[in-house]
Amino acid sequence: MWVYLNDKFVPQEEAVVSVFDHGFLYGDGVYETLRAYRGRVFKLAEHLARLERSASRIQLRLPVGPERLTDLVREALRRNQLSDSYLRITVSRGTGEIGLDPALCKAPTLVIIARPFQPYPESIYAEGVSVIVARTRRNLPEALPPQVKSLNFLNNILAKMEAKAAGAHEALMLNHRGDITEGTTSNVFVVQEGRLRTPSVECGILDGITRELVLQLASELGVPSEETRLTVEDLTRAEECFLTNTTQEVLPVTRVDGRMIGDGRPGGITRRLHASFRACRDRFLDGA
Ligand code: PDD
Repeated sequence: MWVYLNDKFVPQEEAVVSVFDHGFLYGDGVYETLRAYRGRVFKLAEHLARLERSASRIQLRLPVGPERLTDLVREALRRNQLSDSYLRITVSRGTGEIGLDPALCKAPTLVIIARPFQPYPESIYAEGVSVIVARTRRNLPEALPPQVKSLNFLNNILAKMEAKAAGAHEALMLNHRGDITEGTTSNVFVVQEGRLRTPSVECGILDGITRELVLQLASELGVPSEETRLTVEDLTRAEECFLTNTTQEVLPVTRVDGRMIGDGRPGGITRRLHASFRACRDRFLDGA
């Protein structure tokens, strides 16, 4: 496989970053996960815009602009002859002497990885997954804003370890007030009395690109929705629940902390939204 590193594509064995890279030393950097279907990257412009927002919030200048990044992402797919693909763009502060000051790094490190994507089995969409509410709280927005998709992912990793220990697919994290925020790599929605509800950005979440699309699709389907505060009780009493992200799309949740949500099967609104998501994606792929 070919990996883009700084200024050229290299074989993956040669795609090596210095131990003095501040991404490695301090988690100082940002990234995006993208998904290509049939060789075309879905929501590419939105991902590049979020990468730029994340970078600018940590005063990191991206080494190349969105047009060049677009070309590089497409080239990564082409060179690796990938159709269904997982792509990751990583930009770190770069290599520099040990020390927190970003000025120690002369230039950012840019990496683009493209991998074949193994879609999740349809059975998990048909059956739904289980989640837990993690003891690990989401980073305080005033400490490390969750809207920065940073390389510093320990907060999420600690919660993911809890999910794994409990045999659950995902862990949902609460904020400092005890409200639900999001999963370790996903946003969360519930349906209550036919109404779609999801934590607002103000609760301390990453403003997911799939989340945004799902809210738009809900409005097109005439499903009322609100961005709000959600408690654990809202979750356990919900008729339906699902997760969204770039790789999982719209994934039904049927158990929380071992308790069934609704009748324990993926709900009707969840299924309609996933079908609309796929229809929207297919229109994009067909160039409509
Ligand atoms: N994660 N919340 C967090 C903390 C995330 O890391 C992600 C994405 C999301 C969903 O965002 P989007 O719909 O734009 O993918 C929400 C990706 C998949 C990752 O880290 O690989």
